Amino acid sequence: MKVLLTGAGGQIGHDLIGALVAAGHQVVATDVQPRPASHANAGGAWAQLDVTDAAATESAFMEHRPQLVFHLAAILSARGEREPGLAYAVNQTGTWNVLEAARKAGTERLIFTSTIAVFGPVPGQGPGGTPGLPDPTPDDVPLLPSTMYGVTKVSGELLCAYYAKKYNLDCRGVRFPGLISAAMPGGGSSDYALFMYVDGVRVGRYESFARADTRIPLMYMPDGVRALLTLAMADRARLTRCIYNIAAFSPRADEIAASVTRALPGAKFTYVPEPVRQSILDSWPRALDDQTARRDWDWQPEYDLEAMTTDLIPKVRAMLARDPSLKAH
Ligand SMILES: NC(=O)c1ccc[n+]([C@@H]2O[C@H](COP(=O)([O-])OP(=O)(O)OC[C@H]3O[C@@H](n4cnc5c(N)ncnc54)[C@H](O)[C@@H]3O)[C@@H](O)[C@H]2O)c1
Repeated sequence: MKVLLTGAGGQIGHDLIGALVAAGHQVVATDVQPRPASHANAGGAWAQLDVTDAAATESAFMEHRPQLVFHLAAILSARGEREPGLAYAVNQTGTWNVLEAARKAGTERLIFTSTIAVFGPVPGQGPGGTPGLPDPTPDDVPLLPSTMYGVTKVSGELLCAYYAKKYNLDCRGVRFPGLISAAMPGGGSSDYALFMYVDGVRVGRYESFARADTRIPLMYMPDGVRALLTLAMADRARLTRCIYNIAAFSPRADEIAASVTRALPGAKFTYVPEPVRQSILDSWPRALDDQTARRDWDWQPEYDLEAMTTDLIPKVRAMLARDPSLKAH
C-alpha cells in the first residue's frame, strides 16, 4: 500500500515507519523538520512538509497519492500550553489541511492520533458529585478538555467524523494514553514516566514534576504501533465508531518508580509537582474503558508495567550509548 505519514520525525513516527516498511508498504515519511538522525535507519522515503501550509500539503498529497495516511503531526500538551497559537495552527488548521489534501488526492483511509487530553473534568461526574471523570472513562462522555492540545484534538476527532460522513473518507483513530518508548519525549505532560527510566539509567535519580499519586493511562510504544496498524487494517464493516479509547495500564507515578527500582536497585525518585503540568495530569482520566476497541477490532495490549520495564531499560541504555549528547543532563 502507498502510505504517507505526517509528523513522522517524532516519537511514534520513529517506530511506525519501521513497522510499515517491514510489513512491505511503500512509505513516504514527512515532517516539518529534516529526517532526524534517530530516524536514519527507519527506511522509507523522507520529504519535508509543514502541514500548516495548505498549498504544500495538497501538492505533497497530489504528488504521492497515498492510499493510507497516518496523521501524526501535532504540538503536544505541555508545549501547546506554552505556545497555544502554534498548537492551534498545527493541530487544528494542520488537520483541516491534511483532511482536505487527502480528500482531493483520493486517499482511501486516514488514521488520526487522538489522545486522553480530549477529556477534562465534567460537572458532577467525579467522586461525590464533584467535577471529574468516571473511572474508568468510557468512549462517550462530554469532552471538556482543559488544554489547547485537547481542544484541537477534539476538533480533529469531529473533523474526522465529518469527512467520513460527508466525503466518505474512511477516517479512524485512537485516543492514545501517554506513550513510553526509548526516545526522548516531545513535550507531553506524561513525560515524567519516561524520564524515570531515562534518568534512572543515566544518573540514578529523577525529580518527578508529577505527584507520587498521579495516575494516568500509559502504554508501551510497541502496543501503540500495533494498535495503529491493527486499526488501519480492520474491516470497516465491524467498526461502530470513528475514534476509539485504547488502554494498557494505569500506574501511579510511585508505582512506576518502584518498577524502575526493581530493575535499577538504588535509583532514587522524588516528587516536586510543577503546577501547570500537574493540573493537566489531574484533568485527565485515571484509566480508560476500551471495551469497544476490544470488541470491534480485537484490540488487546501485550505489555503491562513490569513487562515494559524489563524490555525498556536495555533499550534506554542503548539509546544513551548511541547518542553521547543525551548522557549529559
Ligand atoms: N506520544 C504520546 O504520548 C501521545 C499520546 C497521545 C497522542 N499522541 C499523538 O500522536 C501523534 C504523534 O505523537 P508523537 O509522540 O510522535 O509526537 P512528537 O512531538 O514526538 O512528534 C510530532 C512531530 O510533529 C512534527 N510537527 C510539528 N509541527 C509540524 C508541522 N507544522 N508540520 C509537520 N510536522 C510537524 C514535529 O516535528 C514532530 O516530529 C500526535 O498527533 C500526538 O498528539 C501522542
